[in-house]
Amino acid sequence: MPRFDITIVGELNLDLILYGLPESLPPERELLASRLTLTLGSSSAILAHNLAVLGSGVGFLSRIGDDALGEISLAKLAESGADVSKVRRARGSTTGLTVILARPESRHILTYPGAMFEMGFEDLDLRYLADARHFHVSSFYLHRALRHRLPEVFARMKAAGLTTSLDTNDDPDDRWDGELDQTLPSVDVLLLNAHEATRTARAANLEEALEKLSKRTPVLVVKTGAEGAIARRGREEYRTRPRAVETVDAVGAGDSFDAGFLHQFLRGADLERCIAFGSLAGAFSTTRPGGTEAFRDRAHFEEFFSHHSTAEADALPSPKPAPLQAKP
Ligand SMILES: Nc1ncnc2c1ncn2[C@@H]1O[C@H](COP(=O)(O)OP(=O)(O)OP(=O)(O)O)[C@@H](O)[C@H]1O
Ligand SMILES: [Mg+2]
Repeated sequence: MPRFDITIVGELNLDLILYGLPESLPPERELLASRLTLTLGSSSAILAHNLAVLGSGVGFLSRIGDDALGEISLAKLAESGADVSKVRRARGSTTGLTVILARPESRHILTYPGAMFEMGFEDLDLRYLADARHFHVSSFYLHRALRHRLPEVFARMKAAGLTTSLDTNDDPDDRWDGELDQTLPSVDVLLLNAHEATRTARAANLEEALEKLSKRTPVLVVKTGAEGAIARRGREEYRTRPRAVETVDAVGAGDSFDAGFLHQFLRGADLERCIAFGSLAGAFSTTRPGGTEAFRDRAHFEEFFSHHSTAEADALPSPKPAPLQAKP
């Protein structure tokens, strides 16, 4: 039996979220926020954290700086139960930070990448990564030093018998090229949001993107924010609408969706249940600041998932997942 259900390679840093700023941000003025949250950030770490809280066995590999921000990030992730023994504290590196200005209409996301741009192939322990049933990478375009080796890493994981998934997230350079074409043949589940899907497919609209991308990957999942999500496997398609919840912010909702989806996928659930549970997890994450605060509040977690369990009765998170084979 492999050691983990899933191993994840990715970035690890904090999100500093400021709420209540004015809609316009004139320079040289003292602009006051009404609330501040310092929370676990970065797509990969939010996914790892929330998967572990749901009950999947998670191994997480990353590179951070040898600094206070790295230490806090690591401690927050470790509290979820994810294994962080392969997170490397690199001397001379600075842990990245994302500052989010959360406003009702739109949010600004400002990132200093730091160590996340520096993680390279030499930081990976391929044996550790292969000791799992499934392998995942988030934030494809942020792994500047590693990206050119990711096609090979994915191919090696497939050759070792793992199933794989990828959430590219945004491309800050807005190029959407590079090594993705070479990586996709080794990806079983591709998770994107609507913008990312359209840009990746070089399509005029979402429907065209769905057509094009579903031919290139066995399972395609496209998240459409408060409207829900779409999952396709060949001609099979499911669309969900998220639960109406009291939303604080949607930071990390996509990563929480991925956590819910993959948690079910790893247990061998069918596509419909995977997307329904992803949707539930995405909605849940919006009920507290940032991507992990809802999952860190145990009482809130229990209350939400028991309250919303009727339709997903057997999709409920379990403390120890059944050792089912992931579907290819
Ligand atoms: N306001 C909301 N209410 C309920 N559910 C939501 C809301 N916003 C998002 N979700 C859920 O979270 C999922 C993912 O959200 P979104 O489409 O924002 O992903 P994303 O763009 O990948 O996010 P991220 O910024 O975390 O990468 C949606 O498919 C939906 O199920
Ligand atoms: Mg996303």
